[in-house]
Amino acid sequence: MKIDILTLFPEMFASVFQESIIKRALDQKLVEINVINFRDFSQDIHHKVDDTPYGGGNGMVLMCQPIYDCIESIKTKDSKVIMLTPDGKKYEQKIAYDLSKEKHLILLCGHYEGFDERIRKIVDLEISIGDYVLTGGEIPAMVLADSIIRLIPGVIEEESHLVDSFNDQLLDYETYTKPEDFRGMKVPEVLLSGNHQKIDEFRKNSRYNRTKERRPDLLKK
Ligand code: ADE
Repeated sequence: MKIDILTLFPEMFASVFQESIIKRALDQKLVEINVINFRDFSQDIHHKVDDTPYGGGNGMVLMCQPIYDCIESIKTKDSKVIMLTPDGKKYEQKIAYDLSKEKHLILLCGHYEGFDERIRKIVDLEISIGDYVLTGGEIPAMVLADSIIRLIPGVIEEESHLVDSFNDQLLDYETYTKPEDFRGMKVPEVLLSGNHQKIDEFRKNSRYNRTKERRPDLLKK
C-alpha cells in the first residue's frame, strides 16, 4: 500500500513514522509513505495557499488551485482521496479495515478555517476522528495511517488483531503478566491453570462484561 499525506506541516510526521511497528512496516516495504507539502504546488509568486472567505468572516480558507494540482499530479485509478475534517464521517475500526485493502490512499490535511467547498469535489471520502475540533488534519491523518497500517497483512501477527477491541463490537479481554501477586492484587486463578478451554471461556466473559460495563452502546449495535 502507498499512503500520500498532503499537508502544510510535513515536519509534524517525522517522528511518528520512525518508531516501532510503523517503522518496521516501512523498512519491510509493506507500506510506502510520502509526506507532500501542497504549498509547493501553489502558482502564486508568494506560494500562497489560502485566502479570506467570500462573504466575510474570520480566518483563512484553503484555496482550490494548490490542492487540485497536487492531487491531480499523484492520483491514479487506484487512489482513494480522503479529506480529514470534523464534518466527516465518524472514524471507526470497520473503516480502518476497509481502507487497509486499498492500494493507494491520499490523506488531505486542512488547517485554518477550512477548505474551499469546491475541494470536496475531488475527494472520495471525508473522515472525522471524533466530535471535537483540532487545529488541523495532521493528527487525524496519523491516526488513520497508524490504524490502517497495523491491519496490512504481515505488519503484526494476524491473530493479534482478530481479538482487537471493536472487531466484533466487543472490547478486549483483561490481561496480566508477572508477578502473580502485586501488592495483594492477584492474577485470576484460571489464567494460571493451563486449562485452555477454561481460559477461553474466561476471556470471552471478560470481553462481554467489560463491554457491558464500559460501552453498553456497542452491545446495542
Ligand atoms: N480537523 C480538525 N478536527 C478534526 C477532526 N476531529 N477529525 C478530522 N479532522 C479534523
